[in-house]
Amino acid sequence: MLLFLQLLILCLFTAGQGDFSPPRFNVSLDTPAAQRWEPVLRHYDVAQLRRIVRLIIRSVAPKWVIPIIEQLAAQLGLIIPQPYEAEIQGISKALGLSLGDGLLINLVYEISGFCTSIVAQDSRGNIYHGRNLDYEFSDILRSFTVDLQFVKNGQVVYRGTTFIGFVGLWTGQSPNKFTISGNARVRGEWWKTMIAALLKRNPPPSWLIRDTLLQAADFQAALKMLANNPITANVYYILGGVKSNEGVIITRNLSGPVDIWPLIPMKGQWYRVETNYDHWTTPPPFDDRRTPAIRALNATGQNNINLQALFKVLSIKPVLNHLTVYTTLMCAAQPHDYRTLVRT
Ligand SMILES: *[C@@H]1O[C@H](CO)[C@@H](O)[C@H](O)[C@H]1NC(C)=O
Ligand SMILES: *[C@@H]1O[C@H](CO)[C@@H](O)[C@H](O)[C@H]1NC(C)=O
Ligand SMILES: *[C@@H]1O[C@H](CO)[C@@H](O)[C@H](O)[C@H]1NC(C)=O
Repeated sequence: MLLFLQLLILCLFTAGQGDFSPPRFNVSLDTPAAQRWEPVLRHYDVAQLRRIVRLIIRSVAPKWVIPIIEQLAAQLGLIIPQPYEAEIQGISKALGLSLGDGLLINLVYEISGFCTSIVAQDSRGNIYHGRNLDYEFSDILRSFTVDLQFVKNGQVVYRGTTFIGFVGLWTGQSPNKFTISGNARVRGEWWKTMIAALLKRNPPPSWLIRDTLLQAADFQAALKMLANNPITANVYYILGGVKSNEGVIITRNLSGPVDIWPLIPMKGQWYRVETNYDHWTTPPPFDDRRTPAIRALNATGQNNINLQALFKVLSIKPVLNHLTVYTTLMCAAQPHDYRTLVRT
């Protein structure tokens, strides 16, 4: 199975080397949810997408999970909130996937793998936010990474970076308001906990990011939503705003905040780094991406921090590693600077 997967990857993705910008598409929030992904999916080979979705599901989801999710999918409308229910219906139909597989691939991507997020403030009070998204199957996901602008009444209301077929966002920006990234905080029995929370109608963490991008009026409102709304999994939310001091790491459990860790530039704490471990604990020696990132930020200095400098920090090993699918750089006050690079 693994060998087959590797061969498939080799055959399909012998593209050139070097970082590249992912394709950019609009998603219209004025189009009914069940149809709004069709214009994006049209750019992809549906049969190939379907094959890969099934391979990823079968490799990531434990065997016992699959029949349970298939049963849940039969009652999708009762369990899953809108617009996500209709979007998953629409995507499944367009790709020729069963609803069970359409739901499963969305849940599988919720295990967002290992990531690094940084929010920082320069000496003039500008806020910068950067993230690396690391995931198994990075070879496949590099070709399914997209930058999306969500458009309503002719305006870009928010944008984000995601994988084709996935309705959630792990990375997003509400222009002139705030930027959000999410990192996994895996502990305990992820699938069991997630399914129980889904039955209580909690949304997965990446859907709360989308809801927040759409609804929150400013940094404070976003902080409140991200900290307090129930979700299906533990997670770290990293939030950046448009004014000085507007940067925070929120450590979440399913019901609310475990810890809120803001920038304190007055005390020299002008950046916050989050990987996949609680900031008050020491990362395990076999996966310490935090210390190298902090060392690089210290060497950069607050006077010199900007999106380009942040990109350099996110490009040192092991912050950048073979699982890194993409790097996104954002600054809510300069929304046009939003930039994603797929890493190769
Ligand atoms: C996306 O929507 C924005 C806002 O309406 C528009 O300016 C832009 O041209 C659209 N881009 C594409 C590729 O359609
Ligand atoms: C989440 O964390 C808070 C604060 O530590 C705690 O009071 C609450 O019981 C926790 N909830 C869950 C579901 O673990
Ligand atoms: C980074 O700088 C802070 C503040 O000067 C210092 O406390 C910390 O030890 C430094 N960390 C590293 C890894 O260089």
